[in-house]
Amino acid sequence: MPVTTARVTTARPERYIKQLVSHLGHKASAELAADGRGTITFRQGTCVLAPIGHQLDLIATAGDLDALADVQEIVTRHLVRFAGEEEDLGVEWTAPVAGEDLDLVHPLLDDYLLTQCTPPDDLLQELIVETREVTGRAAGMQVSRDEGAFLTMLVQLVGARNAVEVGVFTGYSSLCIARGLAEGGRLLACDVNDEWAAIARSYWERAGVADRIDLKIGPAIDTLRALPVEPVIDIAFIDADKTGYAAYYEEIVQRLRPGGLVVLDNVFLGGRVLDPACQGVDHVAMRRLNDLIVADDRVDSVMLAVRDGVTLARKR
Ligand SMILES: C[S@@+](CC[C@H](N)C(=O)[O-])C[C@H]1O[C@@H](n2cnc3c(N)ncnc32)[C@H](O)[C@@H]1O
Repeated sequence: MPVTTARVTTARPERYIKQLVSHLGHKASAELAADGRGTITFRQGTCVLAPIGHQLDLIATAGDLDALADVQEIVTRHLVRFAGEEEDLGVEWTAPVAGEDLDLVHPLLDDYLLTQCTPPDDLLQELIVETREVTGRAAGMQVSRDEGAFLTMLVQLVGARNAVEVGVFTGYSSLCIARGLAEGGRLLACDVNDEWAAIARSYWERAGVADRIDLKIGPAIDTLRALPVEPVIDIAFIDADKTGYAAYYEEIVQRLRPGGLVVLDNVFLGGRVLDPACQGVDHVAMRRLNDLIVADDRVDSVMLAVRDGVTLARKR
């Protein structure tokens, strides 16, 4: 589904949003949220209007390019009319893109971020290379070096002694988690693929953390359901089959101690969660779970634009 955005410089973004919502609300469905964001749903598509400092951000979506052009035209025309002679508003829309083609983070910034974190040591570097050589395209599943450093830091910040990972692959993220554990801490690592886990095991041994990792080969849901329902988990990282996330989340939240953290990877699905045209099983499942977590009053949550999107949900 095509999306286009425009960033308009103005000292009065809130005023324009109110005017647009009020005026266009007679012909379309229009809502003004408490934080000043407006949403106008036309027959042709939708436009979200967000006040960001001295800027008005417009985000238009529609089923096809013609309908999108209509939405752009209606919003631009009214905006320019409301500004009248007081302000010369330059409304420049970006070229339309579909959700899956969005650059979630600019490639330049993406690359910079990789250089601005504690670098992986020689062993992690070796694991990156071996994973690429042995697993080929599947190597893209491995967490990036900044996400790995982020995981170690989260485990340390939580002071975790009891960690769970769903989705081990060749063990990069497990190694990052295990290295952050407090004295005597343990990681329960779940995966279905013994071949990839064999690589993981050899690196855990070389890193001297194998004795603190319990690897369970089998469907993660069975492993999680077999755990006692006691609030003892300090941190859990979910990075496996996307349709399983909701069930993993539920089993883990029940066993999370107050203040404990669930970390979920790939919550953007390459931008496809933003695009209503993407209706694959993974997209639907992830969109539903993202909404469920926001509404889950057992946790406080925040979604971060780290790589493909990372949600942190902290048990109240
Ligand atoms: C994205 S990879 C994990 C990457 C890993 N976190 C890393 O940094 O290298 C997903 C993993 O989930 C595993 N997986 C898929 N379905 C699973 C299931 N039902 N139960 C447990 N693991 C599963 C796959 O075998 C794969 O190793």
